[in-house]
Amino acid sequence: MDPRPIGMFDSGVGGLTVLHECLVSHPNEDFIYLGDTGRFPYGPRSAKEIRSFAWQIASHLLSLDVKLLVVACNSATAAALPWLQEQLPASIIGAVHPESEAAAQTTRNRKIGVLATEATVASGSYERALLNLDAGLEIFSEPCPQLATMIQNGDVSSPEMVTAVREYAEPLKTAGADTVILGCTHYPLATPMLQRAFGRGVTLVNSAREIAREVGEVLERKGIANDREREGDYSFLCTGKVDAFVAVGARFLQMPFENVERVDITELERIGAI
Ligand code: DGL
Repeated sequence: MDPRPIGMFDSGVGGLTVLHECLVSHPNEDFIYLGDTGRFPYGPRSAKEIRSFAWQIASHLLSLDVKLLVVACNSATAAALPWLQEQLPASIIGAVHPESEAAAQTTRNRKIGVLATEATVASGSYERALLNLDAGLEIFSEPCPQLATMIQNGDVSSPEMVTAVREYAEPLKTAGADTVILGCTHYPLATPMLQRAFGRGVTLVNSAREIAREVGEVLERKGIANDREREGDYSFLCTGKVDAFVAVGARFLQMPFENVERVDITELERIGAI
């Protein structure tokens, strides 16, 4: 047993979809969530820049003595996960692998679609992870430059959103993918619209749920789960305005927010670049 909290970070509030799944699956654990809202979005940024941000945040969370670090952000995972694992003396897990495993197990026609940010698609991370699991898979990745920002702005039912979702879904439908990975923290909030665009025959793989599954397996196998009799606690850090984090975050997590503290970006930058 290990009573220390689990650290989790994301480019903003989107990773709260991952925290939500973890709160459902691991109600005895304490979580410290850091949303880099002051530098959102990560999707249009270069891999080098995202790696620097991830390094600063991971170092900051490790200084708070977390027992496990979860990179909830798909763009940060794609740009930085192996590198963070090499550099830092901690157990670090992220996105990409858990949902790739679920997708490879799910597909029947071995055609998998990936919807993600430009940075995630450009990294080729999903292709590598999926082909490692089944070298015969066909993978079709579609960058969705507008989607995360639209969802973040609460735009989940406008005609513009419907048009964008249809446009992003079309190449994957034409390719015949029977399984589509929602490779961005924000996309679970648009699941009904995405499912309509793809139709009932396509299975959508939600990365938040698969990360929560992997967190559970790691806690169990390492023997570091918390006392099952206790109720977990959670606290939040953000690099942007606290009020905005609380307002948008409550929509993502659907629960009241307390314990939100601001972390100064200049303080993170002092940790240094890589
Ligand atoms: N958390 C980011 C991701 O999953 C959301 C999008 C962004 O920051 O651009 O890729």
